[in-house]
Amino acid sequence: MDARVNAMVPQTDPGASYRAAREEIDAAVQRVLDSGWYILGEEGRAFEQEFSAWLGAGEAVGCGNGTDALVLALKGFGIGPGDRVATVSHTAVATVAAIEMAGAQPVLVDIDPEYFTMCPKDLEIVLRTQPVKAVIVVHLYGQAAALDEILLLAARYDVKVIEDCAQAHGALFAARKLGTFGDAATFSFYPTKNLGAFGDAGAVVTKHAALATDMRALRQYGWRQRYISDLAGINSRLDETQAAVLRVKLRHLDAGNARRQTIAAAYDEALAGTALTPPRRRAGATHVFHQYVVKTPERDAVQKKLAALGVGTGIHYPVPVHLQPAYQNRLPMGAAACAETALAAEKILSLPMFPEMTERQVQQVCGALKQF
Ligand SMILES: Cc1ncc(COP(=O)(O)O)c(C=O)c1O
Repeated sequence: MDARVNAMVPQTDPGASYRAAREEIDAAVQRVLDSGWYILGEEGRAFEQEFSAWLGAGEAVGCGNGTDALVLALKGFGIGPGDRVATVSHTAVATVAAIEMAGAQPVLVDIDPEYFTMCPKDLEIVLRTQPVKAVIVVHLYGQAAALDEILLLAARYDVKVIEDCAQAHGALFAARKLGTFGDAATFSFYPTKNLGAFGDAGAVVTKHAALATDMRALRQYGWRQRYISDLAGINSRLDETQAAVLRVKLRHLDAGNARRQTIAAAYDEALAGTALTPPRRRAGATHVFHQYVVKTPERDAVQKKLAALGVGTGIHYPVPVHLQPAYQNRLPMGAAACAETALAAEKILSLPMFPEMTERQVQQVCGALKQF
């Protein structure tokens, strides 16, 4: 028997993205090693320019990871102790952790269960009843949150909008890339992201030039000139090796996103007539499928059966932030008390999704899906 037939299809495989561009990446890393300059240099500057050009707006400031990118944006706005920042509980814990790292108070808003993103109605109640300074909108799984409604609310209540684009590199809303709508936008380049480094890396993007200048200082001890801290900053620098890797991978990002969309279309077809609910697409938005998340009330049983059929899956995320041991019972929430968030966490299942999936792997997943 051909051993490959039953090989497990992994849910994600960052090593495959290295193997697919090995020569270019090896050359880029070698260039950095030979240069003798390893942190905040030419590669980082070039990546920042290439990334903001690809995004189509704003100035990019590279940093250590996507969590720090949020901290830099908040600190850049002068948000800290005594200030409230609204975001969702259905996200990577990082989003909420960053608010506390900046010294501010997170306020948790429920999600719209159809799209798994911030519920504008619950946000409206929060903004009406609490003195919120900023809202962090998470474009989860690769699809835009309800940006039109959220931007209108933010304008009405005069709050800053930070787009958390950690899972949405290249996704569109109204034909414009996510990350170009808010006052600032943050990106993670964690290895499994649509644009992933081979270590930690992140960036914050803004159209406000003065804010970009402040965030450049904030990422390195608040220095505007060496050894002089004008601001109380942090250390969150982008290293040259990751920047060089990201420059290579940025050139493959659009093709990678297109491949994710093709895989998603194959899953849609396989799921027709099954008991699993495919992800709903928002009108006017283009999904880039960082994750392809199905919904099923039988999630744990489905996950087990898929594993038996050689299909690896993930859960993003199994425990909402407000139910995590470190956060439960201490964060203010909207009127909905994150009820939809808690329900969603029990039903979601992320299927294998990475651009380097072979046709054979895609067909193996599709064949397994048809059994439900
Ligand atoms: C939505 C979201 N926000 C923030 C982060 C934090 O990014 P990082 O892990 O690079 O700090 C992540 C990544 O895990 C994420 O998915």
